[in-house]
Amino acid sequence: AHKIILDTDPGIDDAMAIFFAFQSPDIDVLGLTTVYGNVPVSMSAQNALTLCELAKQDIPVTKGVGMPWVGPESGYAHFVHGDDGFGNINFPVSDRKLDPRSSAQFIVDTARQHPGEVTIVAIGPLGNLALALRLEPELPKLVKGVVIMGGAAFVKGNVTPVAEANIWNDAHAAEIVFAADWDLKMFGLDVTNDVPFTLDFLDELESKNPKLGGFVKESSQFYVDFYSQGRDDRVCFFHDAMPLAYLIDPSLFELTRGHARVSTDPLNRGQTSIAPAGSTASPLWLDANQIDVATKVDHARLRKLYIDTYAL
Ligand code: BDR
Ligand code: CA
Repeated sequence: AHKIILDTDPGIDDAMAIFFAFQSPDIDVLGLTTVYGNVPVSMSAQNALTLCELAKQDIPVTKGVGMPWVGPESGYAHFVHGDDGFGNINFPVSDRKLDPRSSAQFIVDTARQHPGEVTIVAIGPLGNLALALRLEPELPKLVKGVVIMGGAAFVKGNVTPVAEANIWNDAHAAEIVFAADWDLKMFGLDVTNDVPFTLDFLDELESKNPKLGGFVKESSQFYVDFYSQGRDDRVCFFHDAMPLAYLIDPSLFELTRGHARVSTDPLNRGQTSIAPAGSTASPLWLDANQIDVATKVDHARLRKLYIDTYAL
């Protein structure tokens, strides 16, 4: 099984992804490291504890960065995820305790404990990963790789015309993470916005797994209201589960390789641009790291993987 650290800002699609990881026999979650993003970091950490309690998982949960690398707080996404991050369902809050370490320290410690074995799965803004790189410059050699939900390579953004939320929230941190010398794979809006999930999908998750699927269905009602504005159908998008789906079954995706940059310029803040290998002669781009970007996903098989995994 893939040993992973799941870096997260729960968040409704984060909850769906966390349960998917817990359920999968191919994934071994070593800890949840939380970060601000959808909600403030203290709520993010509390929500991660609550999800672990519901799923009866005894793993470390840490609190991480609460602000962008540069600049003031950028605001939260309560209008997408509700006041509580779980669609305002008044779910009882767990009294479990956090691991006392920071998320960045936990990432460094865990990578040192299992050199070459850990994959970091980041499904929120990238501040914890950037800070971990500063704490331990050898981190890229210590981990197996990094897969993220974030960015919009060849499609438009969801916060601005060019930027996706996780990258926009902490563009400077994202640039540090994209520039580090590790195997980075990006699952952005190119694939995640391509797969709308309808209400029958939520019903099926609940019927296969009343406890965890039931929680996802209940918390998703608010989330569906948000995503259905201006559409004829009732849908939502489970962005955050996609990098996990890739680890479990890479054949679900098509990826393209290219030099990647993140803009920190105010107007284009958080834009992820990819120059496919061989497509440019500009030194500014040729010096940039190459990463793999998901461009296509098999909808039917992805849905089946989610349902089958929740059914286990
Ligand atoms: C990303 O932003 C958050 O709202 C979601 O949890 C996801 O990680 C999608 O742009
Ligand atoms: Ca998220």
